[in-house]
Amino acid sequence: MVNKRLIISSLLSLVFLLTAFVSSAQVSVESGKQLFKANCAQCHNRNMKDNLTGPALGGISERWSGREELLYSWIRNTQSVIASGDPYAVDLYNTWNKVLMNPFPNLTDDEIGSILAYIDAVHNGTEGGNAAAAAGAVAVVEQPKTNYTLIYSVLAILLALIALILARIVGNLDHMNKVAAGDSEAPRPSIREILTSKSVIAFVIFALIVLGGYTTVNNAISFGRQQNYQPEQPIKFSHATHAGVNKIDCQYCHDGARRSKQSVIPSANTCMNCHKAIKKGSTYGTAELTKIFASVGYDPTTDTYIENYDQMATEDIEAIYKKWIADNYIADKELASLDAKGEKAVKDQWNNLVNSLTSEHDPKIGGPIEWNRIHNLPDHVYFNHSQHVTVGKLDCQQCHGKVQEMEVVKQYATLSMGWCINCHRQTEVKFMDNDYYKSYEKYHQELASGKREKVTVEDIGGTECQKCHY
Ligand code: HEC
Ligand code: HEC
Ligand code: HEC
Ligand code: HEC
Ligand code: HEC
Ligand code: HEC
Repeated sequence: MVNKRLIISSLLSLVFLLTAFVSSAQVSVESGKQLFKANCAQCHNRNMKDNLTGPALGGISERWSGREELLYSWIRNTQSVIASGDPYAVDLYNTWNKVLMNPFPNLTDDEIGSILAYIDAVHNGTEGGNAAAAAGAVAVVEQPKTNYTLIYSVLAILLALIALILARIVGNLDHMNKVAAGDSEAPRPSIREILTSKSVIAFVIFALIVLGGYTTVNNAISFGRQQNYQPEQPIKFSHATHAGVNKIDCQYCHDGARRSKQSVIPSANTCMNCHKAIKKGSTYGTAELTKIFASVGYDPTTDTYIENYDQMATEDIEAIYKKWIADNYIADKELASLDAKGEKAVKDQWNNLVNSLTSEHDPKIGGPIEWNRIHNLPDHVYFNHSQHVTVGKLDCQQCHGKVQEMEVVKQYATLSMGWCINCHRQTEVKFMDNDYYKSYEKYHQELASGKREKVTVEDIGGTECQKCHY
C-alpha cells in the first residue's frame, strides 16, 4: 500500500511540475524591444551598429558565445564580473574609459533572453524592416516555446497514463496477494476507485492550492511592476519644468483629454510653438532641444523649415545640425575653437540625437518622436478620458498623481480593475448641476424628496461589466 501511494504521488508531482513549466513566461523579441528601450537605449545605440556611451551591441551573442552565463551576470551586475578579473571584461571596461554600466539585478533570465533576442533581430535585420522578415524573427525566437510546450504536454500526459497503469498493476498484485492468502472474495480495484482514492484527491487539492498561490503572487507582482513604471524617454522632457515651473496647463498639450477617449501625446509641432523661440535650454544647452528640430526638419540657424527634408541625404542633415550644435557648443562653453574635446562633444550630441530619433527610420532623421508609452490598459477594457475629465470633472492628478512634480513621468495608479471599481463605489457624481445626467429622473426625484443623499458612479451603472469591457 505504501509503495503504491509513493509511486502515484511522485509521478503526479512530476506531471504537476511539468505543467507549471508549460505555463511559465517565455522569451520574445517584442518584450525585448520594450525592455531595451526602457533600460539600455540611453547608452546603447538602437541601431546596434554605432557606438554611443556604450559599445554597439550587434553581434553580442557571437562575442560572448560559450560564455552565456557570464553575459547574463554582466548585464545583472557588471562590476562583479569586472572584479572577478575576467580578461575580456576588464579589457572592455578599460577601453570604455572605465564607464560603469548600470546594474540590472531585477531582470529575469527570460527578460535578458528577450533583450538579447531583440539585439540579434535588429543586428540580423529581421526586426522592424518588412513584415515578413519581422515575422521570421519572431518565429525563430518563439519556436522553442511551442516546441517545449508540446514536449512538456506530451510528457505530462504520458506520465499521468503511466501513473494510472502502475496504480492498476499495484492494485491487481494486491488483489492477487489477497486471493493467494485465501480471501477469494477480495474485489479488484477499478480505475474509478484509484481516481477517487484518498491519496489522489489529497494530491489534486494540494496541487490546486499551490497553483492558485503561484498565480496570485505572480499577478500581484505584475501589478506592482506596472505601477511606478518609469521608462526613460528619448528626449529629456520634464513635466516639472513645463507643467510645474512654467505652469503650462495639462490640456494645452494633452488636449484630447477633454473631448475624446484618448488624452493624446502632443506632436513635435506643439513643442515648436514655444521652442521656435526657446532654442537653447538652461539645463542641456542644445543637446535635447535639437532633437525636436531634427524631428520636424527645422533649421534653427536660419529659423526656417527645411524643404524636402524627408528626401535629404543623411550627410546634409548631419551638416545642418552639427553646425548648430557646434556653434552653440562654442557659445555655451566659451571655447575659442573646436578642440579635440569639443569635437567629441559635438559628435556625442549628434549620436545621441540620431539614436533617439532614427533607429527605426534609418537613415532618415525626420518623423515623430517615439515616446515610450507608460499607461496601457489591456485591449478588453474600455476607458474614456472625456467621460472622466469633462463629465466626471475629475482632476488629472486623481489618477496620475503629481505629474507637475515629475522629471520623468511614472505610472502612479495600479490600473487594476479594483482601482476603477473602488473609485466608482466611493465617488459621488456631481449630479445636480450637470446636464449630462438630466435623463436620470428617478434619482433627481429621490434627491429632491430627501429619500436619497447622494448618487455614486456605481448607482448610475459604473460597476456593470459591459460598461468597462468590450
Ligand atoms: C549608463 C550607461 C549604460 C546602460 C544604461 C547600459 N549599458 Fe551596457 N555598457 C555600457 C558601457 C559603458 C559598456 C562598456 C563596458 C564598460 O565600460 O563597463 C557596456 C557594455 C555592455 C555589454 C558588453 C559589450 C561587449 O561588446 O561585449 C553588454 C552585453 C551590455 N553593455 C548590455 C547592456 C544591456 C542589455 C543593457 C540594458 C539592460 C545595458 N547594457 C545598459 C553602458 C551602459
Ligand atoms: C508641454 C507639453 C505638456 C504638458 C504641459 C503636459 N504634458 Fe504630459 N506629456 C507630454 C509629453 C511630450 C509626454 C510623453 C513623454 C513623457 O512621458 O514624459 C507626456 C506624458 C504624460 C503622461 C504619460 C503618458 C503615457 O505614456 O502613459 C501623463 C499621465 C501625462 N503626461 C499627464 C500630464 C498632466 C497631468 C499634466 C499637467 C499637470 C501634463 N501631462 C502636462 C507633454 C506635456
Ligand atoms: C508653452 C511653451 C512650451 C511648450 C509647448 C514646450 N516647451 Fe519645452 N520648455 C519651455 C520652457 C519655458 C522651458 C525652460 C527653458 C529653460 O530652462 O531654459 C522648456 C524647456 C524644455 C527642455 C529643457 C531644455 C534645457 O536644456 O533646459 C526640453 C528638453 C523641452 N523643453 C522639450 C519640450 C518638448 C519635447 C515639448 C513638446 C512635447 C516642449 N518642450 C513643449 C516651454 C515650452
Ligand atoms: C479616472 C482616471 C483618470 C483621469 C482623471 C485622467 N486619466 Fe489619463 N489615463 C487614465 C488611464 C486609465 C489611462 C490608460 C488608458 C489606456 O491605456 O487606454 C490614462 C492614460 C493617459 C495618457 C496616455 C495616453 C492615452 O490617452 O492613453 C495621458 C497622456 C493621460 N492619461 C493624461 C491625462 C491628463 C492630462 C488628464 C487630465 C486632463 C488625465 N489623463 C486624467 C486615467 C485617468
Ligand atoms: C478617481 C476616480 C475614478 C477612477 C479611478 C476611475 N473612474 Fe470611471 N468614473 C469616475 C466618475 C466620477 C465617473 C462619472 C462620470 C460619468 O457620469 O460618466 C466615471 C464613469 C465611468 C464610466 C461611465 C459609467 C457610466 O455608467 O456611464 C466608465 C465606463 C468608467 N468610468 C470606466 C473606468 C475605468 C475602466 C476605470 C479604470 C481603468 C475607471 N473608470 C477609473 C471616476 C473614476
Ligand atoms: C470600472 C470598470 C470595470 C468594471 C465595471 C469591470 N471591470 Fe473587469 N477589468 C477592468 C480593468 C481595468 C481590468 C484590467 C485589470 C488589469 O489589467 O490588471 C479588468 C480585468 C478583468 C478581467 C481579466 C482579469 C484580469 O485581472 O486582468 C476579467 C475576467 C474581468 N475584468 C471581468 C469583469 C466582470 C465579470 C465584471 C462585472 C462583474 C467586470 N470585469 C467589471 C475594469 C472593470
